[in-house]
Amino acid sequence: MGYFRPTIEQMSGYTPGFQPKSPDVVKLNTNENPWPASPKVLETIKGLMAENLRRYPDPAGDAFRTAAAEVLGVKTENIICTNGGDDLLNICVRAFCDAERALAFAQPTYSLYPVLAKMQECPCVEIARNGAGSLDELAEADAALTIVCNPNAPTTDFLSIQVLGQLARRLSGVLLIDEAYVDFTPDNAIRLTRQFDNVIVLRSMSKGYSLAGIRFGFGIASPGLIEGLMKVRDSYPVDAVAIAAATAAISDQAHFKANVEKVKSERMRLTASLRLLGFNVGESQTNFILAQHSNAEAIYTGLIKNNIYVRYFKLPGLHDKLRITVGTPQQNDQLLAALKNILDIRQGKI
Ligand SMILES: Cc1ncc(COP(=O)(O)O)c(C=O)c1O
Repeated sequence: MGYFRPTIEQMSGYTPGFQPKSPDVVKLNTNENPWPASPKVLETIKGLMAENLRRYPDPAGDAFRTAAAEVLGVKTENIICTNGGDDLLNICVRAFCDAERALAFAQPTYSLYPVLAKMQECPCVEIARNGAGSLDELAEADAALTIVCNPNAPTTDFLSIQVLGQLARRLSGVLLIDEAYVDFTPDNAIRLTRQFDNVIVLRSMSKGYSLAGIRFGFGIASPGLIEGLMKVRDSYPVDAVAIAAATAAISDQAHFKANVEKVKSERMRLTASLRLLGFNVGESQTNFILAQHSNAEAIYTGLIKNNIYVRYFKLPGLHDKLRITVGTPQQNDQLLAALKNILDIRQGKI
């Protein structure tokens, strides 16, 4: 066409997980929470008035910042609200990277990072992920922006906050710790934002808080970094409905914690059951499981025929694995029954 910059013309965009139109499927492919958000979220949305929609929203989402600051033990000026965690990633790549300023991360990880680097036309340093070992290489690369996804998607493992602190100390650039899945782990990196002025923690309301449909994320960092990021964000990155919904959700910690516990207990059961079926499964610290099997691709296709959607990445290191979101007990039972059937057929048992 010739209208686009050559980079855009040639690149493939980010491929989101498939969103089936029919509600009659078992959808375990995009790591949504299977349990609904706090009832207070819907009550709050229902209580909104035409006036709330007629006016532009609060540009900084201060109601949410105040509620989140209280829950997380930080200050309002430590928080930036964004249109999903993805928006924060986008803002950070635009703010810190250019042709001379690289983005670095360890692969496999969230597939949006290289897409953002491509769009920004910045150098992209991709290191092979090897637990805490890759942090040394990331420190040596010393990029303008280093992203560590913790717990990591799609591998589900969690690096200690102590080693992330050591990395932050060694970097001359910014360390963004992507904690989209941290609600399902026992620890988090917020304390590093108090110790280091180069650390940004990313949070999402899509997973633990069951609000993927709303699009709300936020960043936590030193006031200096937050002020700089504010210059790069959209004029109104979070809308009035999203601010109200996210504020109601984070204010109902009892509901949030109960949902997270339900996911964790199903995660344990699903992990054990998948192992019994012959899958190789690591201990997950997220709301999904990475299950390795030599016939992963065929099993994935077989599940779709049963109206069950999980995620399959035909990528190095992932081609023999399925990423499975932890569902409700009923959804997980349907998945396990279908898997058993598919494996029995493949082994000629039926
Ligand atoms: C690792 C990781 N980071 C960030 C995000 C962004 O989440 P959202 O934009 O839904 O808040 C996701 C979404 O799946 C993710 O997997």
